[in-house]
Amino acid sequence: MKIAIITGASSGMGREFALQMDCHFANIDEFWLVARREEELIKLAESLTHPCRIFAMDLTMKGQIQRIEEAARLEDAKICMLVQCAGFGLMGPLEVLPIKDTVSMIKLNCEALTELTGHMLPFMARNGRIIFLASSAAFLPQPEFSVYAASKSYVLSFARALAVELRSKEIYVTAVCPGPVDTPFFDIAEKTGSTLAFKKAFMACPEDVVAKALRDSFFRKPVSVYGCSMNAFQLMTKLLPHGAILSAMKWIKDAEKARSAESFLKEGEQGTEGRLQA
Ligand SMILES: NC(=O)c1ccc[n+]([C@@H]2O[C@H](COP(=O)([O-])OP(=O)(O)OC[C@H]3O[C@@H](n4cnc5c(N)ncnc54)[C@H](OP(=O)(O)O)[C@@H]3O)[C@@H](O)[C@H]2O)c1
Repeated sequence: MKIAIITGASSGMGREFALQMDCHFANIDEFWLVARREEELIKLAESLTHPCRIFAMDLTMKGQIQRIEEAARLEDAKICMLVQCAGFGLMGPLEVLPIKDTVSMIKLNCEALTELTGHMLPFMARNGRIIFLASSAAFLPQPEFSVYAASKSYVLSFARALAVELRSKEIYVTAVCPGPVDTPFFDIAEKTGSTLAFKKAFMACPEDVVAKALRDSFFRKPVSVYGCSMNAFQLMTKLLPHGAILSAMKWIKDAEKARSAESFLKEGEQGTEGRLQA
């Protein structure tokens, strides 16, 4: 049975991968959709033309990934596509982040991704594809997004090494490194901090990022970066010393904080004046 596995399929880019792959991958027998929210996976499955199997699970919980391995063994699966989108980020200085959530981030973004890859490798088909959702945050350390950026550097490094390891087996690995993408990712990430305002100007839509990722995976590219601005950012991180870029970003962040504090105070003063006049 030819299988495509998509983690993080209940939302954002994982969901978008499922929708686009459903249109383009006629030879796949079954899609295996993985995430915690079962009702979202069911809704997605109902909108796809391929038969789907739902794995409602928390990938960070012990023993869950073995359920997928067990299914692969029982079905004598030939995995043609393994797309790993499950992941989350938390913004803010390390000292304000709950340490339990910080560790969960590493467990999901790095540990579960590695464990699932390891368990699925024996089932990967020749000419199969593995796609990892890394991030442009992998290119540079990010103060106040430090653990997330480090976790994505891990994903990028792991993917590039694995791409070389698996080439002789005709399995092709692509790390997708988008900048900000318009998905529910920020609903979670911004609970504890805020994105630099100028970064939001570069927000991409998930349809375009996923279409480019699938194209790059098809052409066996090890890294997929969507958009001129993110390609320019990647180039900058290769050419300039990281210390200098980090200082410039800190300067921008401080200026943004000062501006928003100023406008907050102004609004307060206007409010008080208005109340006094009334
Ligand atoms: N959006 C961006 O700006 C951006 C940029 C660069 C990279 N990325 C990366 O792209 C990937 C997809 O993110 P997205 O933007 O599509 O965000 P999203 O809409 O929040 O999707 C995250 C997915 O991960 C799943 N997930 C979270 N915790 C899980 C767990 N413990 N077990 C299993 N599944 C879990 C969520 O499903 P449930 O809640 O149902 O479990 C959801 O389907 C992530 O790895 C993210 O780091 C995002």
